[in-house]
Amino acid sequence: MTNDPRRLVLVASNRGPVSFSFAEDGSLITRRGGGGMVSGMMSGLAAIAADVEILWLCTALSDADREAARRGDRVAGGPGDAPVRMLEIPPDMLDGAYNGIANSVLWFVHHLLFDTPNQPRFGAGFRRDWSRYMAYNVAFADALAQECRAGTRVLIQDYHLALAPRLLRERHPRARIAHFEHTPWAPPDYYRLLPDDVAVAILDGMLGADHAGFLAGRWAGAFLDCCQAVLGARVSRGAGGSGQVRYRGRTTEVGVHPLGVDGTALRARGRETDVEAHAVALAAIAKGRQLIVRVDRTELSKNIVRGLAAYRELLLTHPAWLGRVMHLAFAYPSRSELAEYRDYTAHVHRLAGEINAEFGTRDWEPLVLEVRDDYARSLAACRIADVLLVNPLRDGMNLVAEEGPILSERGCALVLSREAGAAALIGDEALVVNPYDVTATAEALHAALCMPAAERRRRAGAIAARASGRAPRRWLTEQLDALG
Ligand code: G6P
Repeated sequence: MTNDPRRLVLVASNRGPVSFSFAEDGSLITRRGGGGMVSGMMSGLAAIAADVEILWLCTALSDADREAARRGDRVAGGPGDAPVRMLEIPPDMLDGAYNGIANSVLWFVHHLLFDTPNQPRFGAGFRRDWSRYMAYNVAFADALAQECRAGTRVLIQDYHLALAPRLLRERHPRARIAHFEHTPWAPPDYYRLLPDDVAVAILDGMLGADHAGFLAGRWAGAFLDCCQAVLGARVSRGAGGSGQVRYRGRTTEVGVHPLGVDGTALRARGRETDVEAHAVALAAIAKGRQLIVRVDRTELSKNIVRGLAAYRELLLTHPAWLGRVMHLAFAYPSRSELAEYRDYTAHVHRLAGEINAEFGTRDWEPLVLEVRDDYARSLAACRIADVLLVNPLRDGMNLVAEEGPILSERGCALVLSREAGAAALIGDEALVVNPYDVTATAEALHAALCMPAAERRRRAGAIAARASGRAPRRWLTEQLDALG
């Protein structure tokens, strides 16, 4: 079925595979869209683009995107040159749906991020944003319904579009619909922080799909638990966290699809000249010292502050490392529209400054914090890392944990949070930590730095093989095949 050239695959996501900006002369400059969800989808879809017809619907996120959408119904830049349709959503609707609900509420719920004595407070502002979120989902469902033909398969991505499967089902009862959630899923007690009607609407919206996919068995299991506890739906459980939900006369299959990395393509990119140049420059900074590397967005769930605190504790409790180790912390800007993210970024900077002031000497800078996003430099750091630190509080998967060992030249030891979805796939070859436990993280960093070179190499090789076995093509084909 997947190979039938006449079959259309529609993809829907908030952020799309392409974005625009204005050049000085007013013309439009095209850029590839960023982020974990977009890159996974892009490589998975590119791998099958010769076999199916693809159309990707996304939001016009900026003025330049809106201008591009006005100039043509379709823009180029999808996987394998597939067309992209950018939806023009009114800015206040987008702000309420994206910043107000998706980023400030749903992201916080699924990553367990609320400071509960103070937040959330679901008042009139929340209700205004919720109605915008509903309207945003209606806009997507209307556009998808326009594009649907007989046999079309629709892949709806993430928490931004939780209501869209049900809304599309109402408009196109026979559509084959999959929803994929790239984040974790909250357990019922935490999920129930949401107002009751909202908690129901989100689950009901997703159950409009034929297939609901998750990156790890834990997240699928938590979703099934919520369906049972919140909706009273009939739930049956299969292997590895998968299952079925029977609700409002329909059955939704719940599947677990861990996402890996196309190791061959990544290694090839990692050998290009820009990466090579950065690798030489970083090695010159390290001067033969062992390197602990992290690469993250400055995202609350990535736990950068406790990672820095663990590095500080390592230097305090194992002074033998003073002058012999360096921490390269890449923390790239993210969601700076939200006050919590601006405060968090300031905290990261403060702590980094304190560590360098406390331990630095004339010829040793213990910590290099880089906040300017540079993909080639990130790849270079992974190539030469001795230890990779990936310690999120909670993470759908975390591809850096897989990409680092693939790129690593000498084999790096991975210190990995047990709360990352990736732990289920590669945790047995990593040093697994409770991300809240700073002392345990410091000890894991010490153990990683002490790990014999041959063992680092063996473990990194095993992780690379496991991750490559779950390359995006397989991940995507599984979801399409689940739709028949
Ligand atoms: C990460 C998550 C995705 C999510 C994306 C949104 O990549 O893994 O699940 O869709 O962030 O990022 P954005 O920058 O668009 O808010």
